[in-house]
Amino acid sequence: MKSSPFDVIEAEFLGALTIGSDPTSLPVQSAEVAFAGRSNVGKSSLINSLVQRKGLVRTSNTPGCTRQINFFDVKARDDARLVMVDLPGYGFAKRSKTERSHWADLIENYLQKRPTLRVLVVLADARRGLEEEERELLAFVAARRISPLAVIVVATKFDKVPKSKAVSTLAQLRRDAGVHAIGFSIVDKSGWEELWVAVRKGLGFAATSAPAANSA
Ligand code: GTP
Ligand code: MG
Repeated sequence: MKSSPFDVIEAEFLGALTIGSDPTSLPVQSAEVAFAGRSNVGKSSLINSLVQRKGLVRTSNTPGCTRQINFFDVKARDDARLVMVDLPGYGFAKRSKTERSHWADLIENYLQKRPTLRVLVVLADARRGLEEEERELLAFVAARRISPLAVIVVATKFDKVPKSKAVSTLAQLRRDAGVHAIGFSIVDKSGWEELWVAVRKGLGFAATSAPAANSA
């Protein structure tokens, strides 16, 4: 396989924040990109796909798999160094109300105040589009984030969208979210390079190519 600047040469678990832990306890390392979305939308799978490792992040068929904020140190072939942040999924009804509200506090605190957070990728299932929770999340960061944040919306499981609906699905998502939308699939790797380009640009690294396919 041809090598590209997006190739990841190192990826390792840095640490985690759980309910009750101090959000400032994790040392600031490099510019961060965080992945947010409802339970089971494909956040952990997408991170594994981006870093080209099958098992860096645990994934599961059972919603609610990721139960802490996990941080991963990532180094690309061109020496670009970044931190990927896997957020626990929201909208998981099986958790108690108290637990959900603790989670909301931790995640909101992180999204609002973490100084190194530069890019937020909001994931929505391509077949469902933007729903109430995603709109709330986008509105929250637009209103409350204390320093600049680039926001990208990703339509996950894009392999499940019929080819004839791919363009209109992304156009709709883009209209609803008001930001760049990318279709992504871990099955056929669609959107992989385009998402890397957008993430790297948001983090301030050189993005060496910008394919236009699969975007709106
Ligand atoms: P939580 O940790 O519960 O919040 O879930 P998550 O958002 O991290 O989802 P995860 O990556 O664990 O994936 C959930 C399920 O969706 C798994 O069974 C994945 O294999 C599947 N999945 C993820 N991405 C894709 C995709 O692009 N296409 C298809 N067909 N399935 C996918
Ligand atoms: Mg997960």
